Amino acid sequence: MNTLTNKRVLLGVSGSIAAYKSPDIVRRLQDLGAEVRVVITSGGREFVSERSLQTISKNKVHDNLWDKDAELSMGHIELAKWADIVIIAPASANTIAKLCHGKADDLLSTVILATSATVMIAPSMNQQMYASLAMKENLQLLKSRNVIIIEPGFGEQACGDVGEGRLAEPIDIAQQAAELFLSNSLSGKKVLITIGGTIEAIDPVRFISNHSSGKMGMSLAHACIQAGAKTTLVVGSISIEVERRAETIFVTSASEMYDAVMNNITSQDLFISCAAVADYRPSKVSLNKIKKTSSIKSIQLIENKDILASVCKLKDKPICIGFAAETENLISNAKHKLKNKKCDAIILNDISNSEIGLKSDENEVHFISEKNSEKIDKNSKQIIAEIIINKIAKYFF
Ligand code: C5P
Repeated sequence: MNTLTNKRVLLGVSGSIAAYKSPDIVRRLQDLGAEVRVVITSGGREFVSERSLQTISKNKVHDNLWDKDAELSMGHIELAKWADIVIIAPASANTIAKLCHGKADDLLSTVILATSATVMIAPSMNQQMYASLAMKENLQLLKSRNVIIIEPGFGEQACGDVGEGRLAEPIDIAQQAAELFLSNSLSGKKVLITIGGTIEAIDPVRFISNHSSGKMGMSLAHACIQAGAKTTLVVGSISIEVERRAETIFVTSASEMYDAVMNNITSQDLFISCAAVADYRPSKVSLNKIKKTSSIKSIQLIENKDILASVCKLKDKPICIGFAAETENLISNAKHKLKNKKCDAIILNDISNSEIGLKSDENEVHFISEKNSEKIDKNSKQIIAEIIINKIAKYFF
């Protein structure tokens, strides 16, 4: 799940033994799609090699407030402005105390003063230090200034003590950061999405299908879940992983997809028809494999039901969003489809461009409704999905 896609995370590493876990924190943040830069304090350098952090983050590690070269390229003000979020993990007792006093005697503390980004800290220290009154009051003060505390864990510590003060797990730190970017624009709404291609059997071996990978639909599923919607997926043939937080119904043919949608459409607030549904299927499915020597030389086709158009005809229909994959007369074809199928908006794809659409990780679309016709510029399918969901939330809910 790419909930930090395109987000810029500045990771501050301060002097705690748990700093040895910081390369793993960089990895977990990257797994969620973030670009990561690291600022390390002199204490942090005692516990982890800059080279590891540099190699894994793929960026120079920043460590010196007085570095002349850095001031010409990425100095403390640029770093502070660059970040969408600053995470100090591990945050040592000393660094936490410095934040409380607004000190600016090294690069990390100066960046924190200079940034308008959200600051998260993951305390890590001996359990007695963590339990001290000074630490409790310091954390309370930082909370009152909207610093987010990633609570430490309980357990055995490097010094042999057992108690509270262990650095939170790297994956939890990354996930808590990602959760900050969740929008609640579809909170409480129910969404049904069709995803992938359909497979129309000719005989037990052969079928008619298409190149749909399911990437766009699955990105929409992520975006709906991030926006707080209860999300159900009707999934045909795909070549990607399924979003595990959604309820999923797997289908093969267009007829099965039709049944799955119709059986689950009641009480949905939003229907997104992203699947590449076959318009036709073989009129007869041969029970046995058709032989080369068979007299059958052509396949008779019959029309499949149009799932989107059928949902749009329902009395209490949800908001219905269709997709149009076009190669020519893009906008006019999409507008025609919007009217014909009576849906609320059409997402238009230009599939003549091989760099976008179908199997690609990127897309460029137009959002077309009765009142709006807006281009969404080329970007990753995840970002496109988030923009589409924001528009749907804005225009229809
Ligand atoms: O008419 P066309 O197939 O181009 O329309 C595409 C839109 O209609 C997509 O949203 C697709 O999911 C939906 N569709 C459908 N059932 C079909 C064919 C297309 O829901 N049988």
